[in-house]
Amino acid sequence: MEMFFSALPLLAFLLLPGVSATPGGLWEDNKYGRHSSEVLHPEHNCSWTCMLFTLQWPGGFCQSLYKKTQCRIPQNISSWTIHGLWPLRTQRCCSCWPMFPSDVQELEEELEEYWPSLLKTKPCSHFWKEEWIKHGSCAACVEGFNSPLKYFQICLKLRHQFDIYGLLRDAGITPSCERLYKVAEVQKVLVPHVGDKHEIQCVKDEQDRQVLFQVKVRLSRNLTIGCDHHGDTNGGPAAGPGPASGPGPAAGPDPAAGPGPGPPPPPGHPCPPDTPFFYLPIKHEEPWRPCG
Ligand SMILES: *[C@@H]1O[C@H](CO)[C@@H](O)[C@H](O)[C@H]1NC(C)=O
Ligand SMILES: *[C@@H]1O[C@H](CO)[C@@H](O)[C@H](O)[C@H]1NC(C)=O
Ligand SMILES: *[C@@H]1O[C@H](CO)[C@@H](O)[C@H](O)[C@H]1NC(C)=O
Repeated sequence: MEMFFSALPLLAFLLLPGVSATPGGLWEDNKYGRHSSEVLHPEHNCSWTCMLFTLQWPGGFCQSLYKKTQCRIPQNISSWTIHGLWPLRTQRCCSCWPMFPSDVQELEEELEEYWPSLLKTKPCSHFWKEEWIKHGSCAACVEGFNSPLKYFQICLKLRHQFDIYGLLRDAGITPSCERLYKVAEVQKVLVPHVGDKHEIQCVKDEQDRQVLFQVKVRLSRNLTIGCDHHGDTNGGPAAGPGPASGPGPAAGPDPAAGPGPGPPPPPGHPCPPDTPFFYLPIKHEEPWRPCG
């Protein structure tokens, strides 16, 4: 798939009803930038400007689990899947906006393919609902994201736009039990497509090896790639999603953590520049043991 920057205005155009047809007009209308203050709680005033779109490699995800055998990679999943789209915010999201399966019924098949739960213990619908409550409801103060359906539609479009698997494959970077890759070579491939502010994350496997896990793409709230804002919501040391949700947008019980109490969620970390990492294959029968 050869869709990059140019796809963004198109994307917004497709998703936003009522915007005018010319590119210029589209951005003059710029519904993404506006927010509707009437519906907001005071503590929820839509002050965020940047988002992270996080894609995960299922083969790496399984290595991130404390209980690896809880990992499940559905037969027909063989590419990068969505972890979430997270406004970088300092306030808590509004958990007052419930989501029902019928809200995204028309997207269900596509979501199952591109946004599956990779935990045996967590049905897809729980994963989606959790992401909506934790992140989507926070994005929803912006008109273009203002319903579960719109939010999940945008996420799917972004997933199609960022075909990490294809980009890496075309550069000769493919899953392997033997080959090691350096973060610099992956970065070089991805930068033209996801911008230079992306983060490539690894986890450590049982043998203490670095394993490719996630790519976090930084987006402005109008969905352009990159986001320079260093203001209240995300610059500096207090960066990330802010106090409401702990150390990172992935903090808290994002999917890897599984339901209920238990070990803390697996910490993805930036792949170290000097330590090559594995990009492990997906093995559907025993995804926690991709090479054995
Ligand atoms: C919006 O939120 C920010 C950050 O919490 C806060 O400083 C600001 O006063 C709020 N503005 C309004 C109008 O509530
Ligand atoms: C993958 O399987 C799920 C159900 O297990 C199905 O809903 C989905 O359509 C399948 N996707 C593809 C591409 O075959
Ligand atoms: C999107 O938002 C960013 C940051 O606010 C801004 O610099 C950029 O010009 C906007 N892009 C479009 C196409 O409106």
